[in-house]
Amino acid sequence: MEEKLLIDQLISIQKQQLVSFHVPGHKNGNIFKKVPYKNFNEVLINLDTTEIPGTDNLHNAKGVINEAQERASHLLGSKKTFFLVNGSTSGIYSMIMATTKPGDKIVIGRNCHNSVINALMLADCVPVYLFPEIDHENGLALEISAEHVEDVIIRHPDVKAVVLTYPTYHGIACNLKKIAEVVHKYDKILLIDEAHGAHLGLSNQLPLPALQCGADVVVQSTHKTLPAFTQSSMLHVQGNRIDLDKLKFMLRLNQSSSPSYLLLASLDYAMFVYQYYGKQLMGELLENIKYFKKRMSQFEGVSFLRADPYKKDLYTVDPTKLWINLHRLGVSGVELEAELRNNYAIQMELSNLYGALAIGTIGNEKKDFQRLADALEEIVDKKRWTSNHIQYPTYKMAIPKGFLTPREALYKEKQIMHLDDAEGRISGTSIIPYPPGIPILMPGEIINKEIIDYIKIINKAGTEVVGLQGETNLRIEVIK
Ligand SMILES: Cc1ncc(COP(=O)(O)O)c(C=O)c1O
Repeated sequence: MEEKLLIDQLISIQKQQLVSFHVPGHKNGNIFKKVPYKNFNEVLINLDTTEIPGTDNLHNAKGVINEAQERASHLLGSKKTFFLVNGSTSGIYSMIMATTKPGDKIVIGRNCHNSVINALMLADCVPVYLFPEIDHENGLALEISAEHVEDVIIRHPDVKAVVLTYPTYHGIACNLKKIAEVVHKYDKILLIDEAHGAHLGLSNQLPLPALQCGADVVVQSTHKTLPAFTQSSMLHVQGNRIDLDKLKFMLRLNQSSSPSYLLLASLDYAMFVYQYYGKQLMGELLENIKYFKKRMSQFEGVSFLRADPYKKDLYTVDPTKLWINLHRLGVSGVELEAELRNNYAIQMELSNLYGALAIGTIGNEKKDFQRLADALEEIVDKKRWTSNHIQYPTYKMAIPKGFLTPREALYKEKQIMHLDDAEGRISGTSIIPYPPGIPILMPGEIINKEIIDYIKIINKAGTEVVGLQGETNLRIEVIK
């Protein structure tokens, strides 16, 4: 049998010419047509190199890499910027490990990415959770308020730092300026996972970038919303609360000793695009999104995630993240995502029971939004006759009780059992609907009935739930 290499599969997908509403932000390389730099995309293979005279060294940058990092730092307004080649994941590990000691308490948003939980295992920290508000119409986490942050710090005055996701995967941006004031009033460190917000500085119609809100460390996945290659990210520092030598050590510890020059060069290219073309391209993108929403506005039953006008002081929504909800027409988000891919060659970023997320970036074109609007019009038209509202049980984000720290749980003996028998047991693993990668159970937490029921519902609805085991995905790892 002829072997099919991974390359073959990627080429065959590329031949389908899918419209990309997913990451990476360069949109199948389309940005290179808009902003060609030399013939970067054609000579990539020749540029894959290592540390030789003239190429500098990421882990001790003094030459061209240092200059590129300084350009980015100047452009984005940090005191110091570090390029990352192991994704925001490595930046999140490093910022937490550089600002805590084993046993320290750290405040984290419950809607954090899995990398934050893994960082707690590495750093051996004790989590104290902040609970976001929930949007029950869309099944999404909303804002975390400054009052909530203050309340938790008052109740746990020994916490070292506060870690928040800003904006969320779905574009919710809490009032970070106010939160930064609170965190600094109590002399704590504010660490921001801005994986989904590398583009925020490109328009004043977008939420304020985390650096401008006053965060001490900000980690951005440049690859998600700007035109850098997958895994290419940045970590920015400002102010005097961070020990830079410790941070540099942690960056070396958490990253490859052979960083890819393709990734590094793509970060510098992304900054070049940002500086000289970014605002204009973002203006065009926002116009295209307005056009798309206007076309959709005539259809009852199609809704988008919008900021609640009564909660203006609590959060805003990044308009480049389009959360499309058709569930009032009897179409779940999972079905919508599959329909768009299978029948219209449009690939969304993710979906849940309620809606599907399109990520627009400066790599997209007006024709992408036309294709999406055409497809949705057809889908809505077919569904008009069956307008029965799907009723899902509401998940109240009932936070399970923590019994062990994530690191304690990591090293305990485990066993696998059926979910139905797991009530009252301690979870040995994270259970994460993916995407968006937000844990609903963390290692060391007690499994309750509500969580078991919810896991079964989303599993049945076709959401991928990472952490479950067995053929039917109904088994879970617990502490023996
Ligand atoms: C909120 C959030 N933070 C961090 C990450 C990790 O980013 P990366 O893929 O760059 O490692 C992700 C990835 O999806 C994410 O969604």
